[in-house]
Amino acid sequence: MMPEQTHTLSIDTLVAVIGAGAMGAGIAQVAAQAGHPVKLYDNREGAAAQAIDTMAAQLNKLVARGKLTAEQRDAVLSRITPVDDIEALVDAKLVIEAIIENLDVKRSVLATLEDVCSDDCILASNTSSLSITSLAAGRRYPGRIVGMHFFNPAPTMKLVEVVSGLATDSNAASTVYDTALNWGKKPVHTRSTPGFIVNRVARPFYAESLRLLQEQASDCATLDALMRDAGGFRMGAFELTDLIGHDVNYAVTCSVFTAYYGDFRFQPSLIQKELVDAGYLGRKASRGFYHYGEATEQPLALTVTVSSDTPSGCVALGDVGLLSVLVQRLAQAGITVDQESASDAGVLRIGTATVALTDGRLACQRALEEGLTNLVLIDLALDYNQASRLAISRAHNTSTDAVQQVVDCLAQAGIQVSELTDVPGLAVMRTVCMLANEGADAVLQGVGDAIGVDTAMCFGVNYPRGPLRWADQIGLAKVDQLLTYLQAVYGEDRYRPSLLIRRLALQGGRFHD
Ligand code: NAI
Repeated sequence: MMPEQTHTLSIDTLVAVIGAGAMGAGIAQVAAQAGHPVKLYDNREGAAAQAIDTMAAQLNKLVARGKLTAEQRDAVLSRITPVDDIEALVDAKLVIEAIIENLDVKRSVLATLEDVCSDDCILASNTSSLSITSLAAGRRYPGRIVGMHFFNPAPTMKLVEVVSGLATDSNAASTVYDTALNWGKKPVHTRSTPGFIVNRVARPFYAESLRLLQEQASDCATLDALMRDAGGFRMGAFELTDLIGHDVNYAVTCSVFTAYYGDFRFQPSLIQKELVDAGYLGRKASRGFYHYGEATEQPLALTVTVSSDTPSGCVALGDVGLLSVLVQRLAQAGITVDQESASDAGVLRIGTATVALTDGRLACQRALEEGLTNLVLIDLALDYNQASRLAISRAHNTSTDAVQQVVDCLAQAGIQVSELTDVPGLAVMRTVCMLANEGADAVLQGVGDAIGVDTAMCFGVNYPRGPLRWADQIGLAKVDQLLTYLQAVYGEDRYRPSLLIRRLALQGGRFHD
């Protein structure tokens, strides 16, 4: 039995950070900013002192910009002591290791800490991919070993995943959780499973855009613009992976794919592999999906040209669900809007076009199955009141005039249109449904709860809305249906709906009240 843990670390408790690289230095700064005395240790001589110098330079910039007072800077720096000897960590009650991502090296550091630190000292790891269960195996008190996964840059990113392995004591996890909370972070509890929450649930964000590109639904700039301007994400998948680095992002995908025994939901993309093979690693190589360099102009999203014709009116047939917000926006923009009940309820009529929210079927399939003429499918938006661009697709027998009438009508409300080839689920809708599907499976398997999953995605990767809350808003029956259609049209397991979505949909339930 390990000694009893407290649930809070008093502010005068010594916190030790091992590894003075990007993450370790950031974590040391966070702990010192919260008021703790901190010792920063690195096995490269002088590395800890050098990291503190770099931190001082960064804090000076914040002082110059008025974001920090000189007193605050001095207080933070005075609390951090660089040490070149691991024995100096003897008085720490919380050690956070942020050294090289290597299981054997981390295990050997933990074994040393067992001899250096007191038995009630919590040993936390900032690992982003290693199993906390494996790290704790064979240790004298495996219960005190817990994941404390910060995001980069640690001083600004709010999320901390508190990762419990098989042996982790709940008191140790609670202490780390409460400590992160006291440090102004948003902690979430998660179990030690591949990718924890964020690196698992985020996979479809990259995978669906990569797949759409591979299927020539559109180009990178257009798909990125749709994720930003309709989806409300800060960046699209191509610009984001260019920033992260394709070597890093591809390696994470491969590691999660392998760890889940080749589950096709996590299948890496050949397109991304080719970039890695070519050395086109993104911004750091001046070339990834995009080219970077002083004189390089970034490509623009493909946008359907607006005609000079007067826009047609819009008729909402029956309950149009999420599209009702779009209808209101059209009305506010001066489009004549009528409401009618009709047999093909849930669609809009704009001129000669029948406009429907994508349900996961191909436009040509839905037109044939429902006998709809001039069918134009429209993509999901985070908020139809704010979206500045929407994706559409058309059925094979939809006339160009009908598409133009939709484009002109949306333009009147300030919405640009990007037309995708006839792909099921379009771009934002299928990405959001797949994110929710992954989040749902994580909840189903007890990796986290619904609040934890949504918090993790909003504060770890800045999603504009938690995927499970978003799925609630779309309607779980619709999400289930959309995934089922995707699974059928591709004939692939990758799109199988999570049992939890299916069950909640059948029960009329939701993830959040
Ligand atoms: P880094 O390479 O910038 O820094 C690692 C530091 O650890 C180096 O200064 C190195 O000298 C030191 N080190 C290596 N072996 C050591 C040992 N045996 N004892 C003491 N010091 C040792 O690495 P970075 O990016 O800071 O990552 C550190 C950890 O944080 C890894 O586990 C990584 O997976 C994790 N992480 C990284 C994130 C990132 O975006 N870079 C995000 C979240 C977690």
